[in-house]
Amino acid sequence: MSVTVLIGAQWGDEGKGRFVDWLASEADIVARYSGGDNAGHTVAVGDTVYKMHLIPSGILHPNIVTVMGNGMVINPINLVKEIEYLQTMGITVTPDNLMISTRAHIITPAHIEMDKAKEKALGTEAIGTTLRGIGPAYYDKTGRKGVRMGQMLDLAAFANALEATIKESNDILARDGFTTIDIDASISAYLAVAERLRPYIKDTTVYLNQRLKNGAKVVSEGAQGTLLDIDHGSYPFVTSSSPTVGGALTGLGIGATHINRVIGIAKTFSTRVGGGPMPTEQENEIGRRLRGTGENFWDEFGTTTGRARRCGWLDTVMLRYAVAVNGFTELALTKLDVLSGFETLEIAVAYELDGQRMDYPPSTAEEQARAIPIYETVDGWQEDISGARSWSELPKNAQNYIQRIEALCDVPVSMVSVGPERSQLVVL
Ligand code: GDP
Ligand code: IMO
Ligand code: MG
Repeated sequence: MSVTVLIGAQWGDEGKGRFVDWLASEADIVARYSGGDNAGHTVAVGDTVYKMHLIPSGILHPNIVTVMGNGMVINPINLVKEIEYLQTMGITVTPDNLMISTRAHIITPAHIEMDKAKEKALGTEAIGTTLRGIGPAYYDKTGRKGVRMGQMLDLAAFANALEATIKESNDILARDGFTTIDIDASISAYLAVAERLRPYIKDTTVYLNQRLKNGAKVVSEGAQGTLLDIDHGSYPFVTSSSPTVGGALTGLGIGATHINRVIGIAKTFSTRVGGGPMPTEQENEIGRRLRGTGENFWDEFGTTTGRARRCGWLDTVMLRYAVAVNGFTELALTKLDVLSGFETLEIAVAYELDGQRMDYPPSTAEEQARAIPIYETVDGWQEDISGARSWSELPKNAQNYIQRIEALCDVPVSMVSVGPERSQLVVL
């Protein structure tokens, strides 16, 4: 039993990257299991800020092997750019420390165009996707006509497969009046990156299972969050994959019996980017204060798209659901420092819907949008806590806030971060 799974417990951007980075120092392998470059994971080491979209955050540690699992959808052009970006930042990225699953699916230029076209057609009902082609790529995967990374190992067959899939999308795009894809240009661009990526492509399922058998410690890096899950999120305002614990198993090809820790990463307040219900959203001075102005890299503006994130109070109704769905053994909380200075803080402890009190969120987006949060008010703290490194260095009211979350979600909090930098955290 040596797999620790880290999962976003809210709507993404909880601070998964920084906790993966923390746990990676004691791991042998860091493996990502879902999503693609819709993700943006930030890790701050000293004054240097790294932003990963596809490559697991463990890459920053020498001697760690990173794995991009079969559950991912990969834009190979952006992957090559990310490898080059990390290399220019002084990080070693070679086939010895990065492996890409033969079974992971490829995002084509047609998927990106289809994503844009679908969002445009939805108009005011748009999901607010990252426009990275994620949904259309998973659509082709489940429709059994996707192209997989392993096909890059035979370049001629790969070119044919790409041509066929882009042609099919072009027919749909042309029919609906959208821009079609230049097939020849796409194929030559994809063949060029395939040449570079081929040495990284392996059967990562076999690799992971062999390493686990020999006692390796694996950290499994979630992307997105539980409330964006295709099954458990506010459908259809969700992503197209399973960021939850089941996704970690299918997305890496490992058995449940390997898992010994399932850590839910949660912000100490709520944020969401894109459309869909968010019961505790504060479209007012409180929301603006939680978001920040954008002058700090950790302010609430998307790592991938730069969009301002919607902000609001902590929602333990949603969090309770995430605890249940994933079976979290513990929670790791982020951005406690951002709450410093509030006179009082509100925590949503239940919802009221059609006159009924609810401890768990209703299952439809429409009902979630109508749910009225029932708040509990707790006292805030004024101290700057960014230098705290132990429980006793946290103000009493900050301790109370953490303990209240534990009680409301019925799960222990094992770590709390008080600033974005690697060392700015308290292990409880
Ligand atoms: P992820 O997608 O879950 O990895 O999270 P993101 O990187 O998209 O967003 C989290 C943001 O919060 C990043 O800018 C982090 O640097 C920042 N962050 C993480 N933990 C803390 C913290 O404890 N305090 C502050 N102020 N910022 C944090
Ligand atoms: P990380 O890993 C926050 C959101 C999008 C949109 C919805 C669907 O950094 O936490 P998609 O492009 O996946 O089809 O968009 O999901 N979304 C995220 N929000 N963090 C993410 O990743 C996200 N990945 C997707 O904003 O609402
Ligand atoms: Mg993010």
